[in-house]
Amino acid sequence: RPLEVSDDNVELGGYEHYMLKEIHEQPEALRNAMRGRLDEENATAVFGGLNLTPQQLRGIERITLTGCGTSWHSALVGEYLIEELARIPVEVQYASELRYRNPPIENNTLVFGITQSGETADTLAALRETKRKGHRTLAICNVVGSSIAQAADGGVYLHAGPEIGVASTKAYTSQCCVLTMLALYFGRMRHMSFERGQEIIEELHRLPGAVQQALSCDLQVRDVAAKYKDATNVLYLGRQFNFPTALEGALKLKEISYIHAEGYPAAEMKHGPIALVDKATPSVFIIPHGTTYDKVMANMEEVRARGGPIIAIASHDDPQVDSVADDVIRIPRVPEFLQPIVSVIPLQLLSYHVALLRGCDVDKPRNLAKSVTVE
Ligand code: G6P
Repeated sequence: RPLEVSDDNVELGGYEHYMLKEIHEQPEALRNAMRGRLDEENATAVFGGLNLTPQQLRGIERITLTGCGTSWHSALVGEYLIEELARIPVEVQYASELRYRNPPIENNTLVFGITQSGETADTLAALRETKRKGHRTLAICNVVGSSIAQAADGGVYLHAGPEIGVASTKAYTSQCCVLTMLALYFGRMRHMSFERGQEIIEELHRLPGAVQQALSCDLQVRDVAAKYKDATNVLYLGRQFNFPTALEGALKLKEISYIHAEGYPAAEMKHGPIALVDKATPSVFIIPHGTTYDKVMANMEEVRARGGPIIAIASHDDPQVDSVADDVIRIPRVPEFLQPIVSVIPLQLLSYHVALLRGCDVDKPRNLAKSVTVE
């Protein structure tokens, strides 16, 4: 039986809430996720529990990622990561849909169930069903010995430590980190050069420091939260690697502050959400430097032209955003494939502070459960 962790045996460690503690634990959680898994000598990642031979893994032609809630968002990040770094086609499915959809799954498809708790009923059922069909299944999971960890053929533990706050924070960034290492591993089995593998490892080593730096925006985020705490609708917009970040930022706000929020790919804004823009509807733009920077900037200008307040999450050395956004929250520069892990930090803090100012129960939001073990 997995060890039950309750609020009683996990300390708050001086923090006011578990969520805030877990947000601040992220640099350490990332170090733990990477510990012993980066192989500098071969410029790749190593995993002890995949239970598949390199030959079997080399034969994988497609990957399906499945999960629920925040774990589904990290699956979306995984899709960008694995397709970009390993050039393997990836499909993301809600576990609750996958379990009943009966989709045709091609041979040599590897199915990952992504889950913090390892107990989510839909994810467990989706994994069992694909395993029954004869596909290889792996879990990316935090809780050791959980039902999903046991049901899968093998997997990767996050080692993030217990996550008590209902809104997932450190498990999410740890999932993204594990998916980055998996993308590196699969990439190095295929076309990725030794040098590129080394670069990625170096960037991964720098990641906990970058997250630490991103956490220093806390005080500023508190002011921004005070400004917008009475909003009834908030839009979150980002593109490419930061489209899932937009979804995750919106989910965090919904979950704990009960403000309606929508995440959208920034360029899709013109197909609907822009109709919501007015002076009472703030838009959060995730706009670190990168390939679509200019495009997202153009979207930001469109929102400004319609009088919508703008909060921008931008690279620390980007002066251009100041002229368009009302508030700019700075994050350190990391390569695009690591931006989801860094750019989500201010969004976690924003939802935390807004919820606190609205008097909500941050760690135990109404109607939600930490792990949903029933359908
Ligand atoms: C619940 C939680 C979410 C979580 C989701 C999936 O809805 O409130 O925070 O993302 O379940 O949970 P899992 O444990 O499978 O990651």
